[in-house]
Amino acid sequence: MTNPDKDLRIAQLEMKLAEAEEKLLRQEEFFQMAVHDLRSPLSAIVVYAELLMNRVMGDLDNRQLEPIRTIHRNCNNLIRMAEDVLASAKVRAGAVAPRFELGDVTEIVREAVRSLQGLADAKNIHINLQQPEVQLQRLLDADFLTRAFSNVLGNAIKFSPHGGEIRVRLERDEREIRVAFTDEGPGISPDKRDEIFQKFRRGDPGSVGGHGLGLSIAQYFIDLHGGRILVDGIRGRGSTFLVGLPAA
Ligand SMILES: Nc1ncnc2c1ncn2[C@@H]1O[C@H](COP(=O)(O)OP(=O)(O)O)[C@@H](O)[C@H]1O
Ligand SMILES: [Mg+2]
Repeated sequence: MTNPDKDLRIAQLEMKLAEAEEKLLRQEEFFQMAVHDLRSPLSAIVVYAELLMNRVMGDLDNRQLEPIRTIHRNCNNLIRMAEDVLASAKVRAGAVAPRFELGDVTEIVREAVRSLQGLADAKNIHINLQQPEVQLQRLLDADFLTRAFSNVLGNAIKFSPHGGEIRVRLERDEREIRVAFTDEGPGISPDKRDEIFQKFRRGDPGSVGGHGLGLSIAQYFIDLHGGRILVDGIRGRGSTFLVGLPAA
């Protein structure tokens, strides 16, 4: 037997759901456009900063060049962040699928180090890469995995003291390929070690500027590889971020 009241109620709920989905989609689109539009003005700033740094506009002394280098670095950071957000939003929305190809995890780590070498140099931080003899090959999306490692390494640089050392250690056993990033920064209190991986969550108050997005994006890209990320370390004596990817 049909129940007209119930049918009506279901129809109303279905309409509400459709409206909510539509609204979410519009918000998502707006958000992606905003992030996309951020890129062009930022890229323009980077280009002008480079012209100044290369003294195309005339000679500048070190005192003048230093702030320009800082502008350059920070703009590149913002561009990277905007691109990370956009890349992960596209996968989440189903607009882009990860492309897995056979690759060497060591190469991906090297690429992440290369892309952040300038940031490390600016703080006189030494990045010590320890890798095994064997190749660490597996199926991976090179772009997404590089973004994941860059976020973790970027944090290590950001939270390291001037002149500190960051150790990046690669190893594998039958089950897992592991990459450990160890810094000499302030560390993370045990009660914050889970929540820092959530969106917009930042660790201890007073820590260096940021938006709390990087680790959630890194975790998302590592999840896509069936992997895991966790943090360890002793508060006040640095942190170790461990990324584990199934070896097969
Ligand atoms: N290497 C690190 N040393 C100390 N704290 C860290 C480190 N990496 C991440 N954190 C903590 O985790 C929080 C979240 O990191 P993240 O998601 O990358 O956001 P953001 O870097 O924008 O703050 C940071 O605000 C910080 O409190
Ligand atoms: Mg970060």
